[in-house]
Amino acid sequence: MTQQTQTIDAKALYTAVKDCMMRDQFRLKKRIDGARKIKNESARQNVFAEIAEGIAGSKALVEARITGTPAIDYPEQLPVSQKKDDIADAIANNQVVIVAGETGSGKTTQLPKICLELGLGTKGIIGHTQPRRLAARTVANRIAEELKTEMGQHVGYKVRFTDQVSASTQVKLMTDGILLAEIQNDRFLNQYDTIIIDEAHERSLNIDFLLGYLKELLPRRPDLKLIITSATIDPERFSKHFGNAPIIEVSGRTYPVDTRYRPIGDDSDDSDRDQLQAIFDAVEELCDEGPGDILIFMNGEREIRDTADALNKLKLRDTEVLPLYARLSAGEQNRVFQSHIGRRIVLATNVAETSLTVPGIRYVIDPGTARISRYSYRTKVQRLPIERISQASANQRKGRCGRVAEGICIRLYSEEDFLSRPEFTDPEILRTNWRPLFCR
Ligand SMILES: Nc1ncnc2c1ncn2[C@@H]1O[C@H](COP(=O)(O)OP(=O)(O)OP(=O)(O)O)[C@@H](O)[C@H]1O
Ligand SMILES: [Mg+2]
Repeated sequence: MTQQTQTIDAKALYTAVKDCMMRDQFRLKKRIDGARKIKNESARQNVFAEIAEGIAGSKALVEARITGTPAIDYPEQLPVSQKKDDIADAIANNQVVIVAGETGSGKTTQLPKICLELGLGTKGIIGHTQPRRLAARTVANRIAEELKTEMGQHVGYKVRFTDQVSASTQVKLMTDGILLAEIQNDRFLNQYDTIIIDEAHERSLNIDFLLGYLKELLPRRPDLKLIITSATIDPERFSKHFGNAPIIEVSGRTYPVDTRYRPIGDDSDDSDRDQLQAIFDAVEELCDEGPGDILIFMNGEREIRDTADALNKLKLRDTEVLPLYARLSAGEQNRVFQSHIGRRIVLATNVAETSLTVPGIRYVIDPGTARISRYSYRTKVQRLPIERISQASANQRKGRCGRVAEGICIRLYSEEDFLSRPEFTDPEILRTNWRPLFCR
């Protein structure tokens, strides 16, 4: 029988709690508060001993996470890798940092690694949000691969219907919708020591709600780090929102992309036919350029099916046509990322517009339109009309090539048309009739 020889005092316990997992700290503090009220000395000591055990367990987990942190290196050629020390300093010295950079510069894949190197992701998780499930899943795969760890171990992801996160997970990819939902059960986001809001320039309702909520939360969680990434457009907006948080601009991309304008001819009255012809012509032009897969942006599943049928009828040599949209199963979506022989033409909705790296893609064809959710004041319903996309969206689409080699992007509209477009898409909040009560 071991006998309790040392008395435990509350102060030592409070101090020890600071080394625990963040998610346990609040609960443990409450238990110490409660135990202190126990009048009977030996009963109090018993409860203190139980709490000390809980603290030791939580501290052991922190220790294991620290020693288990995988070795970190950075792909040298990426612009973010080259600015890594500046970015690390900014994160160490500020609660909020904005990182703005070109497509493919390494924001999404390298920032979590910089955080790990700073010792973040040990007492809490580094939460990393993506606008879409497909991106959350494939980015998690990529980071796990770069850190040479199994999925779910140090890097995991959580999206609707799938949770690949364990006690050792240090970097957790998720959709911004998932993080928003988690707030309902964890108002202080205590499981995290870092939040990365990726692709903030998309300004979806989810992102705007998160940015609003986080601004209120930060003073109450002084230990929480927030990193916001944005395309190069207007990072000042985010900086202002967060009390002039520093902006780190990362310039340049690794491989050049040649942009060609091939406006759709309007010889006939049938605009679908004209678009199809323009796509055929662009495919032919790209096939003459040499090997490499082609990514074509489409407005929806039906258009994908029709275009796939038409392309299949052309019987292009060694060519496979693959669809990519949100409703496909993970397995069907994965086909796009698997290596293969011959040429692939991927027909994708906007799920492929941001964040993704599909290694085989050398070429992009951008017809310049998308279904954009809009509230109709006339009919009082939310609709999904096909509209011309903004310059920012077009640049995101172009950025899907030129990631692992030089690329070519064919825009099925003129340069004047491109330049006449709005710089970025209106934030979603302006495209709904949702207004905070005080604005009604
Ligand atoms: N799955 C992958 N396979 C091969 N290379 C990859 C993969 N994911 C990323 N990379 C490489 O890392 C680079 C940086 O990717 P990352 O997603 O971090 O860029 P980003 O700055 O977030 O771009 P974007 O603005 O388009 O989201 C890519 O351009 C590519 O060279
Ligand atoms: Mg990214």
